[in-house]
Amino acid sequence: MKNINVGIIGFGTVGNGVVHALISKRAYLRKRLGVSVNILKICDKDLRSRRSVKVDRRLLTKNYRQVTDNPNIDIVIELIGGIQPARDIIMRALRNKKHVITANKALLSVYKKGLFAAAKRNGVQLLCEASVAGGIPVIKALREGLVANRINSIYGIVNGTCNYILSQMSEKSIDFKDALLEAKKKGYAEKRPALDVEGHDSVHKLAVLASMAFGIEIKPRDIYVEGISSISEADIAYADEWGYVVKLLAIAKRRGREVAARVHPALVSKSHPLASVDGSFNAVFLNTDMLGDTLLYGKGAGAVPTASAVISDIIDIGKVIIGESSANIPGIVYDNQVDSIKKKDDFYTRYYIRFSAIDKPGVLAKVSKILSEHKISIAFVSQKARRREKIVPIVMMTHEAKESNLSKALRKIDSLSAIKKKSIVIRADMELK
Ligand SMILES: NC(=O)c1ccc[n+]([C@@H]2O[C@H](COP(=O)([O-])OP(=O)(O)OC[C@H]3O[C@@H](n4cnc5c(N)ncnc54)[C@H](OP(=O)(O)O)[C@@H]3O)[C@@H](O)[C@H]2O)c1
Repeated sequence: MKNINVGIIGFGTVGNGVVHALISKRAYLRKRLGVSVNILKICDKDLRSRRSVKVDRRLLTKNYRQVTDNPNIDIVIELIGGIQPARDIIMRALRNKKHVITANKALLSVYKKGLFAAAKRNGVQLLCEASVAGGIPVIKALREGLVANRINSIYGIVNGTCNYILSQMSEKSIDFKDALLEAKKKGYAEKRPALDVEGHDSVHKLAVLASMAFGIEIKPRDIYVEGISSISEADIAYADEWGYVVKLLAIAKRRGREVAARVHPALVSKSHPLASVDGSFNAVFLNTDMLGDTLLYGKGAGAVPTASAVISDIIDIGKVIIGESSANIPGIVYDNQVDSIKKKDDFYTRYYIRFSAIDKPGVLAKVSKILSEHKISIAFVSQKARRREKIVPIVMMTHEAKESNLSKALRKIDSLSAIKKKSIVIRADMELK
């Protein structure tokens, strides 16, 4: 009976989780797959640090070629992250006719087309379940469970750091800086959190997910991005009063043969299922032509949940190796279901806007006039504090308006002498009711 031999490159957080699960669940996996999954080599730059899982030192190497070029290894699992040398490692493994599993969303977001093409050319599989939303089987859902569906829209909470910070700001009425500090203390945020809080990690994941959903190559540069660092405790409190929560959303929508993809903070109605996704949890809400709405929810990061996704890929490839399945349904089929990617300026949505204005008569009238000149009508407005010569927030919700009109109006409004800070905008998607 054939065994499945794997080699792991990157023995960090996820690598540890995968090795631990492959060892501790060996008998269970053998029962499910009918063959044993053996770890033949583990490569890492650092072989000295203690790991939570003990392995035979003879398995360890610093040289990735001992994995990619090893004739006995069937599957190479890349878990180092980053662009290089991860890209070279994967290409080398594919050229050597190894199946590859990766969790590397940063790499896939830019180079997926070439990597999937190389896998196809070499007659091997490239799977990446762990690259989006950690342990949640969202790619598998798109590849298999929803294979008959056309995807209309994706709304994802795919960054646990941002979701934790926004949840803390809301629960404890604290500002962004304090919530970030707390996230760092709890291990939910990196020392240098820009990739997460400025939205780029969500962009990487959306580039992968939206390309799969819409059959068109979407790269990070096609996705409008705004992070959560300018969101204040006051914005969250106003949103709460008006029946919304603030979430960092990764959104991709198809309209006819056009798709729009963006990542930004958004107001989500409290009655929408995404509103209750709190803390470090992730969720992906899909609307499809056959199933309608569906929500996938769970842990989007961490050694154990992410290992769950990697092992699911091992089992899928294992079935191909042992001949139980001729091939997996590919992750991305570039069938050009859409022709073009919409530009940010063409979006239509509702907007929450907070202006920081000097408290004197006539300011609100001036702001309203500029908005109306740009075809933006106000749904409701709130101006609470009334202290002479102090800066007070004017907070409003608009009706649906075009993004390019809003940008022009805000440039004018922010240049008024009575407006003292850059205005804050949070989009309120009409579909998140
Ligand atoms: N952590 C999560 O919860 C999670 C969830 C989903 C997906 N992912 C993805 O999974 C991948 C791994 O993430 P991670 O959190 O496990 O990262 P990590 O803890 O930093 O582990 C990466 C490991 O790879 C090693 N490494 C880096 N470059 C190498 C090279 N050239 N050759 C050999 N080893 C090398 C690193 O060593 P040094 O530390 O010495 O550099 C480190 O031990 C990333 O693509 C990440 O985006 C992570």
